[in-house]
Amino acid sequence: MPQAFAFFIFAVMQSNKPIGVFDSGLGGLTVFRSIVEQLPGYDYIYFGDNKRAPYGDRSFNTIHQYTWECVQWLFNQGCPLVILACNTASAKALRTIQQRNLPGVYHDKRVLGVIRPTAEVIGNYTQTKQIGVLGTNGTVKSESYVIEINKFFPDVKVYQQACPLWVPLIENGEYDKPGADYYVKEYLEQIMAQSADIDTMLLACTHYPLLQSKIQAYLPAGFTVVAQGDIVAYSLVDYLKRHAEIEEQLTQNGTRKFYTTTDDTEDFDRHASLFFGDVIKSSFVSMKE
Ligand code: DGL
Repeated sequence: MPQAFAFFIFAVMQSNKPIGVFDSGLGGLTVFRSIVEQLPGYDYIYFGDNKRAPYGDRSFNTIHQYTWECVQWLFNQGCPLVILACNTASAKALRTIQQRNLPGVYHDKRVLGVIRPTAEVIGNYTQTKQIGVLGTNGTVKSESYVIEINKFFPDVKVYQQACPLWVPLIENGEYDKPGADYYVKEYLEQIMAQSADIDTMLLACTHYPLLQSKIQAYLPAGFTVVAQGDIVAYSLVDYLKRHAEIEEQLTQNGTRKFYTTTDDTEDFDRHASLFFGDVIKSSFVSMKE
């Protein structure tokens, strides 16, 4: 009987059709947490490419190659839908994946990013019509936010600042240590110097909410700091209502699995558990550098 039960559990796990959530590392957990809060019933796989993070300074081709490898891996785990919970991957790889990689072979799969849902609402947060966008070099250079926000809020002026040292600080577990303060201050001073009228700061990198309390502390009172987690989660709720062809494929057994490309899974588990507020036991997935 226990054997039959084990087989039943195995069969359920095999037939799971989870939502895949991908990031270059720990940052996507900030989005994943909001998604799970909004949609707790679904099965999920979180996949962090920690070994190859940060993506922010890598070339277009490399970011596309790494992202597509990870997305295919999630497809092979049964995910019909993958969320790129990473702005850099959304800016550099999403369009190629949607337009070149999916049609034909993966016509029944979907990959969604985080830039479009954020651009759709971010203009509602500002009174002065001036927004600061903090992101990786890749995201900032792509101009994706300037272009997308302009489509929805043409009267909003967007200022950008790349913060290339923030992701390495976070991936190395320094986000809550005093050493991080110097670089938080440095990049905030640079964006504030671009305009005195910015009243809304968008954390356009899913890692940055891990620095949010330090960021908030350096900004003058009255500033709105916007993280993307809830925005992306609400947008996913809406997407699933509008796309029955995808929603009906997803299974709802409430499972969450975590995978990382770093062989130091314990380090991933320590940071992820702290951040996710739950005990996390990840598994290692090997990816070539
Ligand atoms: N979380 C990723 C983002 O939202 C970080 C990118 C990186 O690895 O540099 O852009």
